Amino acid sequence: MTTIDDIESRTDSPPGKGRVIYRHRVATRLTHWTWAIALFFLLLSGLQIFNAHPELYIGKQSGFEFDNSVFAMHAARADDGTVDGYTTVFGRSFKTTGVFGMSGPADNPSYRGFPAWATLPSYQDLATGRVVHFFFAWFFVAAFLVWFASSLISGHLKRDIVPSLADIRAVPRSISDHLRFRFHHNGRYNVLQKLAYAGVLLLIFPLIILTGLTMSPGMNASWPWLLDIFGGRQTARTIHFLCMVALVAFFVIHIVMVLAAGPLNELRSIITGWYRTDPEKNEEHSA
Ligand code: HEM
Repeated sequence: MTTIDDIESRTDSPPGKGRVIYRHRVATRLTHWTWAIALFFLLLSGLQIFNAHPELYIGKQSGFEFDNSVFAMHAARADDGTVDGYTTVFGRSFKTTGVFGMSGPADNPSYRGFPAWATLPSYQDLATGRVVHFFFAWFFVAAFLVWFASSLISGHLKRDIVPSLADIRAVPRSISDHLRFRFHHNGRYNVLQKLAYAGVLLLIFPLIILTGLTMSPGMNASWPWLLDIFGGRQTARTIHFLCMVALVAFFVIHIVMVLAAGPLNELRSIITGWYRTDPEKNEEHSA
């Protein structure tokens, strides 16, 4: 059976409809849903861990005596006695009462980084957050390794994820198609999909895994070079957090694109593998 890589396996198309092709291999589908589920738990438990010390630094040190904080969520009392939540980015503070720094009911507020609805567990419990985070981290790493190995062997990585020069030349046309919500359903990823997926799979996933390992004291003993590469544990923690923000942004755009491109057909393809193409232009690459 063939896939998005080499579109051959097709059923006959009914009049006015495109053919149904086998678009996603089982390894792509299984790893996709493994990391989607794992990332959900990793996000919520990660925010729980962040809340134990809701501040990020660049460099090797952290603490009051150092001036290397780049991001913080905290509550502070104003001169008139009112307490508010604040988020500070590179020294500039923004009032974020109700969401970051201070949240919950007005008569019984919580002074915490991320609000209760964004963390797992909802109450402050670093130990449970760490257990959940490390449990799903290994599923995530395993799914990524399986995806990488199978995509390398099947050619999916080279053909469908890494953009070719011809793909790059098609970027302006693909942007104009997307701006006009013109989606082509012809079996292949368009170049913007390739760039987004390559960014996630080949840059953000490896980076979030390596910075996670850099924060582990056990790994510091066996792979001390990780600390050198990322400039210390505090910088690694900041990069880990930024990767999380990038993944959340990717997720929002990813879902909007799935909805815009035709959610039933898209979802069917990533669940069962089968995808209905546009009538006629079945074999063209989309741009
Ligand atoms: C954080 C969670 C998610 C991440 C990181 C993610 C990432 C990705 C990646 C990298 C691919 C390409 C895989 C490949 O070709 O090897 C992909 C495909 C796809 N994803 Fe997700 N995904 C996530 C969640 C979801 C969810 C919740 C949905 C559905 C509501 C979804 C729907 C799809 C569909 C339909 C495709 C195939 C697109 C196509 O064939 O044109 N994804 N996703």
